[in-house]
Amino acid sequence: MFPLAERMNLISESITLAVSAKANAMKKAGVDVVGFGAGEPDFDTPAFIKDAAKTALDQGQTKYTPTPCYPDLRVAIAAKFNKDNNLPYKPEQITTGAGGKHCLYMAFMAVLNPGDEVILPAPYWVSYPEQIKLAGATPKVVRGEESNSFKITPQQLERAIGPRTKAFVINSPSNPSGVAYTPDELKALADVITKHPQIVAFSDEIYEKLVYDGLKFVSFAALNPEALLDRTLTFNCHSKSFAMTGWRVGYIGGPKPAIDAINKLQSQMNSHITSFTQHPAAVALNDPRGAESVEQMRKQFEKRGKHMWERLTKLPKITCPRPNGAFYCFPNVSAYFGKTVGNTKITDAISFAAALLEQNHVAVVPGNDCGFDTHVRLSFATSMEQIDKGIDRIDQFLKKLG
Ligand SMILES: Cc1ncc(COP(=O)(O)O)c(C=O)c1O
Repeated sequence: MFPLAERMNLISESITLAVSAKANAMKKAGVDVVGFGAGEPDFDTPAFIKDAAKTALDQGQTKYTPTPCYPDLRVAIAAKFNKDNNLPYKPEQITTGAGGKHCLYMAFMAVLNPGDEVILPAPYWVSYPEQIKLAGATPKVVRGEESNSFKITPQQLERAIGPRTKAFVINSPSNPSGVAYTPDELKALADVITKHPQIVAFSDEIYEKLVYDGLKFVSFAALNPEALLDRTLTFNCHSKSFAMTGWRVGYIGGPKPAIDAINKLQSQMNSHITSFTQHPAAVALNDPRGAESVEQMRKQFEKRGKHMWERLTKLPKITCPRPNGAFYCFPNVSAYFGKTVGNTKITDAISFAAALLEQNHVAVVPGNDCGFDTHVRLSFATSMEQIDKGIDRIDQFLKKLG
């Protein structure tokens, strides 16, 4: 046995990856799989952003850069936070990381001590608990009920706070639920955090631009800047809004001591993000075509989300709160637990997803890793045709289960 570090026992490999690996293997073998698993836009990165990357390469931006990033990107990110989010960050309050995931990991490592508790609303994005545990802290899960569209209430939040609470993670719009808090609901949570000055907020706003039905997005720290600006870290990235998942560009705005600490960590970890992604990342934020392309994609997602949700909620015994953000529906499939199809007995979301893939060739993500073993996640970052084809197949699958 190779002598691995004990911390490797703290975390588990994602079940989600196991399902996508199986779906990919089936596709390779020629099976026509409908993929609702991917957490990424199906659009290509806008051409003007790709052109800016070519320019960066041609101009020789191929060497080491400052740890936070080149100054022009820092300025562009600070300007974006000021303009879009009412967050008066200065360039020195900004740093970047290799995607939102790396930003969150560095921040947990820089802020959390062993023994700290982090309040984590469920359903949650799969990496939060694992990253919190790697930092030596403990996730304290607070369950958002389906009857409340998976949102936690201020009372639940207040009750979860204890002497060891160090941080609160808020992700709105949410992966996996596709639900965003209204400004009033978020303000009620911000009021609770305001009362507890020892708590740091981690606001993951990476789906900020993808909100629907006229919902207004507000940044967590902007709800009470006087109290929250100095103890909130705001996370964002280019992955979802600019269809740039593979570029690995994420960023953080926050109090300077926290940003300095994250930079110290990054300087010993990966030095900085890839040099020639930095100029195009700034162009995406500064050029008006950036906002236009985001809005075009948002409109498409809005139509697809409404359509997927309408079709899903017509399926027998399936319930699903309506998504008003991100690109996910998170239906409850537990009415089918206990049924058998082929040789598989459906006992939870994992066996449901595995049987659906096996029997009717639709890939969905079981909610187990998100804290909900009764739900599955379907991404609507795919075409209307694929949505119809996939839901038709789910309908056939459910009929087999009876
Ligand atoms: C809520 C949430 N936060 C962070 C990330 C990580 O984003 P990135 O791909 O930029 O690392 C994701 C990606 O799916 C996400 O859904």
